[in-house]
Amino acid sequence: MRFFITGGAGFIGSAVVRNIIKNTQDEVVVIDSLTYAGNLESLNSINENNRFHFENVDICDRAELDRVFVQYQPDAVMHLAAESHVDRSIDGPAAFIETNIVGTYKLLESARKYWNGLELDKKQAFRFHHISTDEVYGDLHGTDDLFSETTPYAPSSPYSASKASSDHLVRAWQRTYGLPTIVTNCSNNYGPYHFPEKLIPLIILNALSGKSLPVYGDGSQIRDWLYVEDHARALYKVVTEGVVGETYNIGGHNERKNIDVVKTICQLLEELVPNKPNGLDHYADLITYVKDRPGHDVRYAIDASKIAKELDWTPAETFESGIRKTVEWYLNNETWWQRVLDGSYAGERLGSI
Ligand SMILES: NC(=O)c1ccc[n+]([C@@H]2O[C@H](COP(=O)([O-])OP(=O)(O)OC[C@H]3O[C@@H](n4cnc5c(N)ncnc54)[C@H](O)[C@@H]3O)[C@@H](O)[C@H]2O)c1
Repeated sequence: MRFFITGGAGFIGSAVVRNIIKNTQDEVVVIDSLTYAGNLESLNSINENNRFHFENVDICDRAELDRVFVQYQPDAVMHLAAESHVDRSIDGPAAFIETNIVGTYKLLESARKYWNGLELDKKQAFRFHHISTDEVYGDLHGTDDLFSETTPYAPSSPYSASKASSDHLVRAWQRTYGLPTIVTNCSNNYGPYHFPEKLIPLIILNALSGKSLPVYGDGSQIRDWLYVEDHARALYKVVTEGVVGETYNIGGHNERKNIDVVKTICQLLEELVPNKPNGLDHYADLITYVKDRPGHDVRYAIDASKIAKELDWTPAETFESGIRKTVEWYLNNETWWQRVLDGSYAGERLGSI
């Protein structure tokens, strides 16, 4: 198969690309405009492979989208390109509306035009897989409730509202035009190549340099964590075996309070890097509680029983095994994250960040 992977230079997209190139004979075309979150260095391990192609294309550019569909004739689109950081969406929602809503609309229209021109067997086999988040469901306040595929949408942030909007567009294009779409909604991911503004890499890197470890509010918010390579495997199952028109929730069954995630990272660093910076006694001494994020969701937790039952997918990593792998990855891949922190990963395109 030949896949379009939008956002393939991002955190999850690059894991999807590496998984496909390493573990299948399929071909990949990454469609990515390389915003601050796009990093081609996350693809260094596979970019020499002749089944890998890269196109620097913005999903809001309809003419360029039409060009790449004609040029590459993909069998499926896996749509991950998005603005993805909640804090950035609060500070500046415009880019989220543009990329997540308008960009998804343009991609749907370009895909529909291409799909309409396909021969019947190719048309039936084509898939448009939209990758979304559990944040579209809002948050949970009880301790036992779970998000299922039928939980009503109630997004809280500009980010989750823009993703909810794009999910609705994708389902409408299936219902109205018959475009063969599938939607997945996933919990929080973590793992290698995660941009250092997100909680887990931020805590690892701040701790290593003796900086404070900021925790929103009292740190009691609960997230359901999934190792990114488990997500990448799930997405491949869905795009190749999932049923058109269906939604699959993907989660790791790993609910943790934010403060416990931070303390777990500190404990791992005590073991793996006992030589601490600045005469520090314990990494946990760096924990600093900061003013809570506006509209902060209390708890997310996913019921992933549908994908387990229907597509035989379950995560391979527990939180304990995945977080250890993640901390070890950051310790062994300093060049990757140093070049993100000093801005050199982006060359001239972004200026310093
Ligand atoms: N990170 C998570 O925990 C998580 C969980 C569930 C779902 N998701 C969803 O998965 C997808 C990928 O998330 P991520 O964490 O890898 O995001 P990311 O921010 O790391 O990567 C996004 C990628 O999209 C590209 N991009 C942004 N705007 C673009 C545009 N207009 N045109 C083309 N490319 C553009 C960026 O350059 C980057 O490579 C997103 O749709 C997100 O909503 C993320």
